[in-house]
Amino acid sequence: MSNFTLLHRPRRLRRTPQLRAMARENRVAPNDFIYPLFVRHGDGRTPISSMPGIDQLSVAEAVVEAKKAWELGVPAVILFGIPAEKDPIGLENFAQNGIVQQAIRAIKAELPDLVAITDVCLCEYTDHGHCGLLDEMGNVLNDETLDVLARTAVSHAQAGADIVAPSGMMDGMVAAIRDGLDAAGFTEIPIMSYAVKYASAFYGPFRDAADGAPKFGDRKTHQMDPANVREALREAELDVAEGADFLMVKPGLPYLDVIRAARDAFPEMPLAAYNVSGEYAMIKAAAANSWLDERKTVLEALLGFKRAGADLIITYHALDAARWLR
Ligand code: PBG
Repeated sequence: MSNFTLLHRPRRLRRTPQLRAMARENRVAPNDFIYPLFVRHGDGRTPISSMPGIDQLSVAEAVVEAKKAWELGVPAVILFGIPAEKDPIGLENFAQNGIVQQAIRAIKAELPDLVAITDVCLCEYTDHGHCGLLDEMGNVLNDETLDVLARTAVSHAQAGADIVAPSGMMDGMVAAIRDGLDAAGFTEIPIMSYAVKYASAFYGPFRDAADGAPKFGDRKTHQMDPANVREALREAELDVAEGADFLMVKPGLPYLDVIRAARDAFPEMPLAAYNVSGEYAMIKAAAANSWLDERKTVLEALLGFKRAGADLIITYHALDAARWLR
């Protein structure tokens, strides 16, 4: 036992739950969440084995799921479509009666105030599974792809999308979509750019879910090298200059430093983080084995995004987390 006076005792602020709440710096709430929905043709639901609790949905089931989100205080969903048929261009992507267009109309008819975001990319729609049009050598054609992205964004806006979110990492995609939307009269529709998206192994389960794995090769010529962070700021800067309204960093948990760097470099921009399928699958698998407490782990991980500087979190845990936070 020593008898010196200890002036600084950080534990004073941790003594009771009330004191801890008063000293708390960050909070996570249902209105931070964006809930992803996978829509496909046909009826009912198809479970996704690598993403327990997440299903491929019919249009009617997508409405059911969107309603659950809305009733739990989750203000937004992001839609991914699985087309009836795939082709080299991905024609259903901008078809008036494409699966995403149908889902938006149905969801907005039922829940006009829910924010409907659409993922704008080619990979789920093309028969080769790449995020752009290809030349005869199999290389992604950047500038030719921009026109398809713009047409798709306009088609989503016509169906009633509130925000479009291009995820293909094509150079100039934000500018092309902004031009396309404006020319079609959608000057009010914001763009949430997947500005900083890495070529990540953590997308594995999503590619089952959305049936969008590349049939050959990989995405390293357009998605970023996981080793880079300066380049992330350059990508974000270009998207801001092209007119992006929101920035996104993806994946999330292995890239919290990138979220922090983006937050500090762009204090004026709303910033989203994508807590991707592989991050979800890891926690679900560990929890299913009783190796982790799912509820505590999920809420801690989600809080981590807020601490890193994200405003919004795209997460498959959205409904569970919103329930736990009530
Ligand atoms: C592309 C897209 C992908 C994800 C979101 N949009 C897959 C990819 O780039 O390969 C991944 C999301 C996740 O893993 O949860 N349309």
